[in-house]
Amino acid sequence: MKLGYDESGSGPVLLLAHGFPVDRNIWAGQLTGLSSLRRVIAPDLRGRGKSPAPSQDGWSIQDHADDLVETIEALDAGPVDLAGLSMGGYVAFALVRQRPDLVRSLILVSTRALQDPPEYQTGRKMTAERAERYGTRALAESMIDKLLTPRAPEAVRQQVLAMFDAVPGTTSARDSLAMRDRADLTSLLGSITVPTLVVEGAEEALLPAGSSSAMAAAISGAQMVCIPKAGHFAPIENPEAFNQAVEEFLNRVLRTSEEKHWPRRE
Ligand code: MLT
Repeated sequence: MKLGYDESGSGPVLLLAHGFPVDRNIWAGQLTGLSSLRRVIAPDLRGRGKSPAPSQDGWSIQDHADDLVETIEALDAGPVDLAGLSMGGYVAFALVRQRPDLVRSLILVSTRALQDPPEYQTGRKMTAERAERYGTRALAESMIDKLLTPRAPEAVRQQVLAMFDAVPGTTSARDSLAMRDRADLTSLLGSITVPTLVVEGAEEALLPAGSSSAMAAAISGAQMVCIPKAGHFAPIENPEAFNQAVEEFLNRVLRTSEEKHWPRRE
């Protein structure tokens, strides 16, 4: 399934996979701020915005990864710089496990390779039921303070809430169950060979403390950056600092691995 997306810029592709329960608009600041560096592509994962939901009961994180693979191939864009935010990071891990040839570098934002611990199972199911019944917006009350810091500008808060409004409840329900059932990819970390940047908001409130640094330590040569004045959704809460970290990383990738990972395109 080819996904709908927003894009800006030109050159090698930076593919941005959004988190839960939002859409491609979480990357608005990257579409504008990184377009001088890359062709930035921000797809909607299936079931929201510009991307249809296939007519099946549910889907998996691997299905999302397969959709991204099809999109990369349809655009003849690989190997790409791949960024995944939270659930988008789970998707990025699934993609890199299956098709490492399509990934030139990895940017892992507010995410983890560990699967959900057993005590999350009930919560995921309740989230799915709530979203299905009352819509994605019904998740905002319990989630928004974990995604943004208390000092996030009101405009940013409203942008995130608008995404909650736009994502169909059925889609969020399916995503919640897909996250619950995702594979544990911790063992993949040691086999990642592409340049990797791990990004965490300084005021992250959703991930267990220390999980990003442990993940970075498990990936050979990975660099970790902490984004000040930002929580889980750092790309939208502090886009300037986030973009600067990504830009520095991508410039380093370019310098160190152009020949190996960046085949020249005619
Ligand atoms: C996300 O931001 O994508 C989700 O909060 C991830 C999760 O619930 O595991």
